[in-house]
Amino acid sequence: MGTPVVLISSLNENGTANLAPMSSAWWLGWGCMLGLNSTSKTVENILRTGQCVLNLPSEKQVGSVDRLALTTGSNPVPSNKTPMGFRYVEDKFGLAGLTPVQSEAVAPPRVFECPVQLEAELAAVHDFGVGNPRIRSPMKAIEVRIVRVHAVESILRDDNKDRIDPEKWRPLIMSFREFYGLGGNLHHSRLSEFPEELFKPAEFRRNPVTA
Ligand SMILES: Cc1cc2nc3c(=O)[nH]c(=O)nc-3n(C[C@H](O)[C@H](O)[C@H](O)COP(=O)(O)O)c2cc1C
Repeated sequence: MGTPVVLISSLNENGTANLAPMSSAWWLGWGCMLGLNSTSKTVENILRTGQCVLNLPSEKQVGSVDRLALTTGSNPVPSNKTPMGFRYVEDKFGLAGLTPVQSEAVAPPRVFECPVQLEAELAAVHDFGVGNPRIRSPMKAIEVRIVRVHAVESILRDDNKDRIDPEKWRPLIMSFREFYGLGGNLHHSRLSEFPEELFKPAEFRRNPVTA
């Protein structure tokens, strides 16, 4: 519909890295639900290794993301993807012109150029769309828990380096299969009026807040 793009890095069975763009992701606290076609190499890798990195590209990485479109790390190309012109690519980092850097808590590498990199572990997997006659090939909803967060200094708030500043962060958005960015701030948000710490369990709060 119109959601931020995520570049998922995962490890292939031979130890090389796979990298795949996707955008059907939603977030709750330190967790994320990924909507992926079951035939993706990424799904195979996450289910086998229990790990991935969710790299969030900004508008600046649109060219790299687009070069990864219509590619798969699966060889041969799964039959559901051949009519759309997908091709197998062994080195997706190389194709995209992106740089793998070692992660801290998981084995798959992070993407250096992406301003946000979230190291993650598999939490749960669900079949998605079972019995839906309009869904052409099987899908998975994969829940991952974020175990390490990396954010580049230039998108952090001046008054709190522990927070991303939405005025500085320009996520790449896929809207109806086209690439978009963000315009300026539109309206005051009432949801931002109470302390964000209230979202956390009490033992993870940095400062005492009254609930
Ligand atoms: C910007 C963008 C967003 C995409 N979003 C999704 C998505 O949300 N879910 C999905 O299954 N595929 C999505 N795709 C297609 C995947 O990239 C495609 O299935 C790819 O083959 C996965 O790579 P892999 O097989 O190496 O894992 C998207 C592609 C692009 C370019």
